[in-house]
Amino acid sequence: MNREKYCAAKVHRWWWMMPCLMAWALAGSANAQIVSPPASSRDIERKVSRLLARMTLAEKLGQLQQLCGAWDGDSLPEDFDLARQAALGSMIFIRGAKRTAELQRVAVNESRLKIPILFAFDVIHGYRTIFPVPLGEAASWDPSGAEEAASIAANEASSGGVRWTFAPMVDIARDPRWGRIVEGSGEDPFLGMAMAVARVRGFQGTNYGRPDKVVACAKHWVAYGAAEGGRDYNTAEVSERTLREIYFPPFKAALDAGVGTFMSAFNDLDGIPCSANSFTLSRVLRGEWHFDGVVVSDYNAVKELIAHGVAADGKEAAALSLTAGVDMDRFSRLYSEHAGQLIKEGKLRLATIDEAVRRVLRLKYRLGLFEHPFADEALESATLLSVKNLAAARELATRSFVLLKNDHGILPISRQIKSIAVIGPLADDSQSMIGPWSGDGRKEDAVSLRAGLRAKLPADTKINFARGCDVNGNSSEGFGEAENAARQSDFVILAVGESADMSGEASSRSSLDLPGRQLELIQAIHATGKPYAVVLMNGRPLSINWVASNSPAILETWFAGTQGGNAIADTLFGDANPAGKLPVTFPRSVDQVPIYYNHKNTGRPPGSDPKSASQYIDLPSTPLYPFGYGLSYTQFKLSRLQLSNVQIRPNRSVTVGVEVENIGDRTGDEVVQLYIHDLAASVTRPVKELKGFQRVSLHPGESRHVEFTLGLRELGFYDRTLHFAVEPGRFKVMVGASSEDGLESSFEIVEK
Ligand code: NOJ
Repeated sequence: MNREKYCAAKVHRWWWMMPCLMAWALAGSANAQIVSPPASSRDIERKVSRLLARMTLAEKLGQLQQLCGAWDGDSLPEDFDLARQAALGSMIFIRGAKRTAELQRVAVNESRLKIPILFAFDVIHGYRTIFPVPLGEAASWDPSGAEEAASIAANEASSGGVRWTFAPMVDIARDPRWGRIVEGSGEDPFLGMAMAVARVRGFQGTNYGRPDKVVACAKHWVAYGAAEGGRDYNTAEVSERTLREIYFPPFKAALDAGVGTFMSAFNDLDGIPCSANSFTLSRVLRGEWHFDGVVVSDYNAVKELIAHGVAADGKEAAALSLTAGVDMDRFSRLYSEHAGQLIKEGKLRLATIDEAVRRVLRLKYRLGLFEHPFADEALESATLLSVKNLAAARELATRSFVLLKNDHGILPISRQIKSIAVIGPLADDSQSMIGPWSGDGRKEDAVSLRAGLRAKLPADTKINFARGCDVNGNSSEGFGEAENAARQSDFVILAVGESADMSGEASSRSSLDLPGRQLELIQAIHATGKPYAVVLMNGRPLSINWVASNSPAILETWFAGTQGGNAIADTLFGDANPAGKLPVTFPRSVDQVPIYYNHKNTGRPPGSDPKSASQYIDLPSTPLYPFGYGLSYTQFKLSRLQLSNVQIRPNRSVTVGVEVENIGDRTGDEVVQLYIHDLAASVTRPVKELKGFQRVSLHPGESRHVEFTLGLRELGFYDRTLHFAVEPGRFKVMVGASSEDGLESSFEIVEK
């Protein structure tokens, strides 16, 4: 089989259908620490120059080539030939100490210049030990947890020879129909920045040259999440102001945290595909931000310039991508095939190629690949799924859960119960538990909810299991069995939502409702009169109006990872207290989309005039659950909101303090959130903007003083001339437990 077919088969099998196969908490500020390059820069630059001077054009183009290797089994014979010819700058999918070493040995022993291959893999939310999907991790509002997860993932991946991950995905997503919303941190740039920094630090540490680290990749540059209609790969039309205020900041935060690579996106932006976009790639990324790392194209994105209609053929596509600033061509071979001719024809400068090769070699030196090209099999087996990694996965999963409803404290479930029904198509689905893009995660390693409950409960507690229906099927044949299981039990847990393959890449949905017959299943169980709780598993916000109005309890668990079943059982029985908050708005219906908390006021805000306001006549303007929302088994009270000043100069900061107290009877965490509203500015401003948050843990009766600082970064915005500035005027401040409730105050910025 040739590679095109081979890789297409792989992509089809793995990428499109993968689920079937498969501190430094920023305490209120997203200020990123600038991390210096890992090894002595001068030394590296000298080595790169020496090597570059010895390379033929073919060898140079080889370094700009990333190919996809076999997902498993033996590498293709052609891969060994390419390694021997130094024509494989990087490979994706090949992983594991043994498999990577086979190819690496050829590259470093048999190729003329002995340049090692850089093995890359999508280590998105874990390598073998799988953590909650990134949207779930963001729901923890705990950057230190996300950092720990990324650090463990880096440790596991590097033990298998993988030194480059295509994460974090830092795309802002305001449209829950978009399947890849699951892979990011939701709708807010401030939370997105904090998570981006945390993940970069986790993957790379302060020096990704350490053999147990991987270089991270900020993707997808840029506005991939702004796909029209939420349809994956679709066109994005975003103003420069919105790019700079909403879509760019998490990328800039990743860059300031030292991210080593960027990925150019599939989509076109304002008519120019992102993999040929000199505004985003050259002017902003290289020019304004001085990024000296590698830009790799997304999968086949160079060739897709032809389908976009900006290149007539492969040669033109290669010229466009290279000159715009894409250093490495993933999957298509257009650079290798056409760059020589383009140079001959004067359509491409050799200096452009040299600069791109310089960046790739610099990355390999920074990674220490020349010194440590091989992973160690013994270390690998001691690292993967270690007891410590699994314990972290269990703990971090509990931190990602969001309690959406809990009438009369029905949760946690009493340990006195003698029987429990666990019902629903996701109740025993360990494949979905690890979610989409689950690296080398395996369902055999994952704990389903049913298994987690069995492990938690005493042997004499009866568990009555019934699937009830499929996630997305038409049959209700299993309802009778499910109702019987409910009737025979003291309490019912209903696990419903989406299967893992319903979100992620190429998995956009036109509906946000529970798929298939699941709502009817819930209604049938509701009708039995048994006490029950709904456990949601899903990769996007769902419109669950009936459930929100009628079911007594709802626990949002996203796709919780390898230890998901244990973590959910811990939470349902009160060994863990949920404290997550929504990182994205839950609409009442898909028809409200786009709906996000940091919207503009408009001249006629909803509610201002019943006849002529910016609202629908047949739907409320409010969401089902707002951004930042989430309950706990205990209660908290916020009080004594205090500002250090009521007036400040534009170059000064104001400190905001608040008291948070646990007034309930259990230990728990509250996420204290700070929002601002610039009431009158030279351009319209959002009605609310998150500018600080802290997750604090409190015993019953305990209280804590929480403080935030609002300075230039938090108060500034892009003015009419697109300059970042702080303008005089009044700012409203709101501190609360979600974006929709809290204590308010205000201060004023006055002219110097
Ligand atoms: C396409 C995805 O968009 C990207 O995020 C991923 O890293 C590549 N495929 C490689 O698997």
